[in-house]
Amino acid sequence: MSFDLIIKNGTLVTASSTYRADIGIKGGKISAIAETLEGENIIDAKGKLVTPGAIDTHVHLEMPIGKYTSTDDFYTGTKAAAFGGTTTIIDFVETRENQTFVEALEMRKSLAKKRSIIDFGLHMTIMPHDIKKLDQVQAAVEAGCRSFKIYMAYGNRLNDGEILLAFEAIGEAGGLPIVHAENWDAITTLIDKNLNEGNRGPEWHTRSRPAVLEAEAVGRVIDLATYAGVPVHIFHISCPEAIERVKNARIQGHFVTAETCPQYLCLTDEVFEAEGVEGALPICSPPIRGIIDQMELWEYLSSESFHTISSDHCPFTVGEKAEGLDAFNKVPGGVPSIEMRFPAIYSRGVRDGFLTVNQWVDLCCTTPAWLFGLENKGDIQVGKDADLVVFDPEKTVVLSETSLHEEAGWTPYKNMSITGWPEVTISRGEVIVKEGKCYGEKGRGQFI
Ligand code: URP
Ligand code: ZN
Ligand code: ZN
Repeated sequence: MSFDLIIKNGTLVTASSTYRADIGIKGGKISAIAETLEGENIIDAKGKLVTPGAIDTHVHLEMPIGKYTSTDDFYTGTKAAAFGGTTTIIDFVETRENQTFVEALEMRKSLAKKRSIIDFGLHMTIMPHDIKKLDQVQAAVEAGCRSFKIYMAYGNRLNDGEILLAFEAIGEAGGLPIVHAENWDAITTLIDKNLNEGNRGPEWHTRSRPAVLEAEAVGRVIDLATYAGVPVHIFHISCPEAIERVKNARIQGHFVTAETCPQYLCLTDEVFEAEGVEGALPICSPPIRGIIDQMELWEYLSSESFHTISSDHCPFTVGEKAEGLDAFNKVPGGVPSIEMRFPAIYSRGVRDGFLTVNQWVDLCCTTPAWLFGLENKGDIQVGKDADLVVFDPEKTVVLSETSLHEEAGWTPYKNMSITGWPEVTISRGEVIVKEGKCYGEKGRGQFI
């Protein structure tokens, strides 16, 4: 048998096993896995781990939010992702009021297709003006968009009645609802109260969004999903109180899954203590919390209460963040994490003893693929897409805005030392990153 490329001598890591084998790649697919394979074009992975390409199911690239647009576009964002070992992302579609779901999907798809260097999927956001379009949910599913984002916070939020209607429509179409869960009414009351009392600095962002109000919304939305008879996936859980609700619902037999993100696992609210705009940079929602919350999240990951770790990559520039210096609620929310996610979870999770290598791969590759129906992704098996990472478990990288390839011009992880970094990233059999150089062409990414 001949191969286009062979990865030799590596230690293969999947969600369920770790073993020594060679991988033969042909026509963009994994075509053989054996103790020894021979061929001409070889990547020697001796001393390295070989994992599935990582999958980031929650990113916001060139996303319009109010008067801002998130900083990385589909080119710079997917390039940075590829440097970090990510070979598939899922971004979002937002409709205009007079647009159908399918029209909005086609527009966003063609924008992403022009620039993306890795494969991508899209979640459909259901906004208040979309409630009258719920009879189009089935058409969106048929057009390739199976997951539907619902906000319980911000201007785009749905009220409980609208959430119920959306859940019923998504359930009938066989889709998956995904939710940003926070108790918006209580939070906005606390924001106003704190601002009126002169508490305007970035540290008041976290203090206006207490954990119990995130947990309340998680519990409420699980109850709504249970009533509607649909599964539900909860995005960016930041605190033990919220994941405890998911855990209890699952014990009762409800199909609820949960995501957390690197910012909640690698940062604490001390980041807000930096002077001036530096303190405003890491504002995101739900907020970054204290060290005890962080340590408990790692324990919940260890005991498999979470299902995915995604980046929620949504950067804004220093100048944009600075516009909210006189009031924390004006700072555009979101941080850049698309590049560091996969290696950081290895470094902080596996090396620090919270996760096995298999749990790392499961959380960052395999379960994300399964949950969002990416059947050719997320695993090392004959017949799957040859999306693979040759990962050097000993390479140390100190993160900074210059070591990373994101466009925001800053990183909340500055000076964080990570041991374990991708050496080669392969997408459908093509080497797109090798030893610090990107070879992936703009527009090679496919909609999946
Ligand atoms: O603050 C955040 N997380 N911004 C991105 C949008 C969202 O809420 O997911
Ligand atoms: Zn969100
Ligand atoms: Zn998000």
